[in-house]
Amino acid sequence: MLPKQVSIFEVGARDGLQNEKPVSTQDKIVLIQDLAKAGIKRIEAASFVSPKWVPQMADSGEVLRNIKRAVDVTYSALTPNMKGLELALDAKADEVAIFGAASESFSQRNINCSIQESIARFEPLMERAKAENIRVRGYVSCVLGCPYEGEIDVSEVARVSEILYKMGCYEISLGDTIGVGTPNNARKMVQAVSQVVPVDKLALHFHDTYGQALANILACLETGVSVVDSSVAGLGGCPYAKGASGNLASEDLVYMLHGLGIDTGIDLSLLAQAGNTISQALGRQTGSKVAQALTS
Ligand code: HMG
Ligand code: MG
Repeated sequence: MLPKQVSIFEVGARDGLQNEKPVSTQDKIVLIQDLAKAGIKRIEAASFVSPKWVPQMADSGEVLRNIKRAVDVTYSALTPNMKGLELALDAKADEVAIFGAASESFSQRNINCSIQESIARFEPLMERAKAENIRVRGYVSCVLGCPYEGEIDVSEVARVSEILYKMGCYEISLGDTIGVGTPNNARKMVQAVSQVVPVDKLALHFHDTYGQALANILACLETGVSVVDSSVAGLGGCPYAKGASGNLASEDLVYMLHGLGIDTGIDLSLLAQAGNTISQALGRQTGSKVAQALTS
């Protein structure tokens, strides 16, 4: 059975813009404010990672400090380590996210350490976040395949997800980083993870590289998951996964969900406008088919 409501976790300003050509801080601020106006309640707005690794996110503090905040919106930030957490706290992020992987090679390439070392790095961060009363989300990358290792065993996805959940992450977002999954294996993966993490604590984070994300999400919604990450205008990709395209476009997701009678609280037309504005700033066409259709 499909959920009656789906909560959309908008990652365009982070996962999207981290892998696009740089835009101004003001363009980011406008995007984040436009997303809130469209009814998005959860916005990943920043990433406190090394600016040498991801220069596009170097102004994250300035972005968080200068957005006009809507009272009912959560503005979150990626934090790979304690230094990231300190910066996120200084900039008043409402919540933070740690990110691990189900693939050793991807972990090395993305955060320069093994899966085991990443868990050890997250431990003090989790303690500090708890002391500060700030919620932590957990990402697991490469849940349906790895750019370096190919197939990933679902037992490894479940193992890493369970560790992050038991460490105190309030939600585990399952990342098909390179968008290689198809509906049956996506559903099986979610079912395997839901044996060790309650299904209402899971989120889907599917990149659309092979055009499968919408189908995969629909298949997984049948398992009881009701949180989906998406990226307005289909922005982005992953700097450490060559060829990966952006997450599923939020507009395309919202269109499907509304068509299925599932409530999102989002105004599709305002969302498409937000996507078109940032696409113009990037000098490229929106990656959302729905936005193209609505504005053609
Ligand atoms: P490292 O080099 O091993 O770390 O990088 P280090 O502790 O040795 O520090 C090296 C330098 O980085 C030092 O500066 C630190 O101060 C600085 P230096 O002395 O050389 O001038 N540094 C920092 N600066 C700012 N913020 C920080 C920070 N930490 C250290 N937080 C590190 C380790 C994790 C920092 C690095 O590998 C990194 O930044 N990686 C981030 C990679 C990234 O952002 N990837 C994309 C996001 S993940 C993703 O997109 C996947 C996801 O969407 C889910 C999915 O799709 O699967 C979430
Ligand atoms: Mg991603």
